[in-house]
Amino acid sequence: MNATADIRLYQAHAKINLSLEIVGRRPDGYHDLVSVMQEVSLFDSLSFEPATELEFSCSDPDLVGGNLVTQAARLLAHRFGVTQGCCIQLHKRIPAGAGLGGGSSDAAATLVALNRLWDLQLPPSDLSVLAAEIGSDVPFFLTGGTAEVAGRGEYVCPLPSLPETWYVLVNPGVHVSTRDVFAELRPAEWSAGNATRALAEEIRDIRPARLSVNGLSSALFRLYPAAEECFRRVSDQSQGRVMVSGSGPTVVAQVESRRDGDRLASLLPESYWTAVVHNVARGVGDST
Ligand code: C5P
Repeated sequence: MNATADIRLYQAHAKINLSLEIVGRRPDGYHDLVSVMQEVSLFDSLSFEPATELEFSCSDPDLVGGNLVTQAARLLAHRFGVTQGCCIQLHKRIPAGAGLGGGSSDAAATLVALNRLWDLQLPPSDLSVLAAEIGSDVPFFLTGGTAEVAGRGEYVCPLPSLPETWYVLVNPGVHVSTRDVFAELRPAEWSAGNATRALAEEIRDIRPARLSVNGLSSALFRLYPAAEECFRRVSDQSQGRVMVSGSGPTVVAQVESRRDGDRLASLLPESYWTAVVHNVARGVGDST
């Protein structure tokens, strides 16, 4: 028997926010938000191999200590009394602390993979509850594609897929704390969610969807001037809409084609990390 036959390979895609509004603060300290989220073609790779213990290795040594993959695996094992282990390898391409949901996507892939590997047979609704315990963005990645998201991130309503759309992701290399950005947010920066709901309606009507608003941008820029500088530089060079993704600092520029994306990326400082990506219509991918 081939010793690698039981290895399962997954792609955990990044997301961008096409719109993000903070509606208000909740009694539990979190914020209610409305957002349109879009899965994109940039992805981390994960492999899962049966083992007696839980083992984890990662191409980024900074993530070996604490990360959402081991958190998801331990949560599943603990909650369902799993005695098997798993050898998990993570190859990171999505920058961490970037507003692209990389850790959340890795966690969602882990829930889906271990649900199969450990034969837990949990339905999607149970996985979604576990996902929300791990982090606010994790439930989205169980659905993926294009979706309208509400609550603190746990209500995910799929939207029709966009036609092929290209984006340039630009990251100035600062690691952002989502918690700090939310803490910096002022009530005057909350909004009713109308821009996001209008965008979701346009997508439902199969009308062209453009990047909309991000209610966290001002708080991000006050805390991280390098993020504002990045936003300004991208805006100066871009022909189309530009928006911060999530709590930042990654800036998203919508472009007409991959070629226009490559051109825009070439005009930016070399110290910036860039990726030219397109929208993805499906959820967590099992590539075995
Ligand atoms: O859920 P997650 O661990 O990703 O959130 C990180 C932090 O961001 C939370 O501890 C909270 O302070 C803040 N947050 C929030 N409202 C949300 C999501 C996150 O206040 N909807």
